[in-house]
Amino acid sequence: MVEIDGLMLDRTRALWQRAQAVMPGGVNASARMNPALGHPLFMQRGKGAYVFDVDGNRYIDYNLSHGASLLGHGHGAVTAAVEDALTAGGLLAYETALQVAVAERLLTLFPGMDMVRYTCSGTETTWHALRIARAYTGKLGVVKFEGHYHGVNDTVGYSHWPDVDEAGPPRSPCPVPDSAGIPPANQDLITILPFNDVEMLERCLHSQADSLAAVIMEPINYDSCGLVPTSEFLCAVRELTRQLGVVLVFDEVLSGFRVRPGGALGDACIPDMTVLGKAVGGGMPVSAFMGTRAIMETCTPVGPALHSGTYNAPPALVAAIGAMLDEVTRPGFYEHLNGLGDRLYEGMRQIFDRRGIRAWVQGVGARFGLLFGLDCEPRNYREVAQQDLEQMRRFHLACLRRGVYLHYVSPHHGFSGAHTVADIDVTLNVMDDAAKEV
Ligand SMILES: Cc1ncc(COP(=O)(O)O)c(C=O)c1O
Repeated sequence: MVEIDGLMLDRTRALWQRAQAVMPGGVNASARMNPALGHPLFMQRGKGAYVFDVDGNRYIDYNLSHGASLLGHGHGAVTAAVEDALTAGGLLAYETALQVAVAERLLTLFPGMDMVRYTCSGTETTWHALRIARAYTGKLGVVKFEGHYHGVNDTVGYSHWPDVDEAGPPRSPCPVPDSAGIPPANQDLITILPFNDVEMLERCLHSQADSLAAVIMEPINYDSCGLVPTSEFLCAVRELTRQLGVVLVFDEVLSGFRVRPGGALGDACIPDMTVLGKAVGGGMPVSAFMGTRAIMETCTPVGPALHSGTYNAPPALVAAIGAMLDEVTRPGFYEHLNGLGDRLYEGMRQIFDRRGIRAWVQGVGARFGLLFGLDCEPRNYREVAQQDLEQMRRFHLACLRRGVYLHYVSPHHGFSGAHTVADIDVTLNVMDDAAKEV
């Protein structure tokens, strides 16, 4: 455990002791452990841009439910929509007019997507999308990119943040399971490629076309600090998958709504399927997968790929999506986000320059990576993996002590529609002091 000058965490630590007796590691998600502190934080509540811990400390939050709370914590319109729907019967597990109306609105924001099904988490939605792609193509193989994350499922739980010593040569990485317990046979169905490498992509897709069902990717790879695809790479991935009968799946769980209302790339590259989670629910646990009519009608009861679930599309959570869509399509929403982003990213760059710290700020829309030890834009996971995690840890702790929360060791941070220019300015002052300290 790290003692942090000036920050009282006595109740937090006492609660963590109790929690460890009843929950493994004292947490319900391993990502909630903060290795920089040596324990998780325990919050009392969140409101807008802030979270308040059980010791009474307030933080400007740049974690934001790992990206789910794009509107800020406890957004009033989302809360009201959920409350209304709850009074109409809670879960129900029937279709209602709401599922139809929200589906119609959602689809207008994603070019090329004709139909949608709602699910609960990001993990579930990538898992369903890949099963459907397999059923649709009659093939089983999946290509994913090193450093991209698609949830804790056994189908694509490989090479999210592999140890580079175990991950093989940079241009032909081997699959490294993200977890123990994944059946070793699953590995035979996965090919890992480096992001932004057109030549390796072409070689792989041509040689494996007969066995490949899908290529899955984060269109902006926020899970490796916000890597942006080159236009050449995007063009290649779209053209090759189309030519070779492979389903292109965009995992927009993190990138959706982060840059514009809809997918991160707009109509610059239109996939065959898109999966959504996190921000789509305005901070509520709901996800969705979408696709062309032909692919989506592979789902039962129209086609043979089983998709069902007691908790699919509860009206309260679909109502949350509706409220979130109202907010992000309101004039000025993205102007506000972009204004905050410009101010924060430029401010951070100036601080690191002024303080002589080698650090790359990779800001894309409302989320960003902060890469210590790098001084140019990375293009793939291996370049990101060269970052200085120890300097990052010290910087995050120095910010935490001063009331700004950046989650260690998350590769991405972000702000919400509830953050203000004043919050950004306070954050920059804190970061300046933190930079001086580290
Ligand atoms: C791109 C991406 N896909 C899928 C997931 C999994 O989502 P969930 O945590 O809701 O299962 C995540 C979560 O971080 C993600 O970033």
